Amino acid sequence: TWTMLNVVEEQVEKIREQVGEGRAICALSGGVDSAVAAALVQRAIGDRLTCVYVDHGMMRQGETEQVRRDFEEVFDSLDVVDAEEQFLTALAGVTEPETKRKIIGHEFIRTFEAAQVRVFGDAVTEGEGEATAYLVQGTLYPDVVESGGGAGTSTIKSHHNVGGLPDDLNFALVEPLRALFKDEVRAVGEQLGLPERMVWRQPFPGPGLGIRIIGEVTKDRLDTLRQADAIAREELTKAGLDREIWQMPVVLLAEVRSVGVQGDGRTYGHPVVLRPVTSEDAMTADWARLPYEVMEKISTRITNEVAEINRVTIDITSKPPGTIEWE
Ligand code: XMP
Repeated sequence: TWTMLNVVEEQVEKIREQVGEGRAICALSGGVDSAVAAALVQRAIGDRLTCVYVDHGMMRQGETEQVRRDFEEVFDSLDVVDAEEQFLTALAGVTEPETKRKIIGHEFIRTFEAAQVRVFGDAVTEGEGEATAYLVQGTLYPDVVESGGGAGTSTIKSHHNVGGLPDDLNFALVEPLRALFKDEVRAVGEQLGLPERMVWRQPFPGPGLGIRIIGEVTKDRLDTLRQADAIAREELTKAGLDREIWQMPVVLLAEVRSVGVQGDGRTYGHPVVLRPVTSEDAMTADWARLPYEVMEKISTRITNEVAEINRVTIDITSKPPGTIEWE
């Protein structure tokens, strides 16, 4: 539409003004927001943009490989960093949600600083006064509001892409989507000619599955949740519900156990919670009335196929009062 064309032209112009002759690193998360932000910046400054994708070990099954394939088509320069061990070590023993988010945000920034030095060399970090290095982020308007950036609001959750930034940053932020809602971001993505899978990808939080494990984040728990989540997503797609459902987090209650029975044995496993929601912009959401057959299929498959899980429950809370994610 002409409106989105204006947004593209306006933002490309603004980015050129801000970055000047500088260089930028884009923090690609795999989601539509950072992809659209990066595509805008690439249009504005071309090969002075380097995209960095951090695999923090808390992505969904097969996601990093998929992201790499998709992004290699669109972006000229892509650096994939394997930081699983770094993140999981930093998260060891941590259960409190805001602490998890702050740690993940912090490790992200550290990883990008390392990537910055790797990509640009010392020249950039030694720049005097004025920034010559820029970090691009796909921060949306709802992120700004919910992180307390909007007038008269208080912090609900510190999103990893807004909150918890350290003071010793030697790069400046470029956030071309700060005024936009999700549907507008998708329209801009289409305007930019990004692939449909990228534009219509359901939202997934930057901290990944780390905030969908209630309790400490460990590799084993991540693997368990990845299996359950893959089944849930597969069945949702099979049922043709991907666009109707805004997103469906699967949450592992890692510190809860319940008794069950399977075959001739007693089990004492963990529950997962399905959190299917409908929404316009994630500011508010309604719990989605999933068809019973779909719920049944997901429940049967998860309890049969994922050894540690013996119970599947469904979250029927709207937002407000419940947020979409559990942490
Ligand atoms: P909540 O849980 O606040 O989530 O209702 C609203 C939307 O934001 C996503 N979300 C995040 N996205 N970084 C992100 O990029 C984050 O730290 C983050 N936390 C939540 C969530 O999946 C939902 O779409």
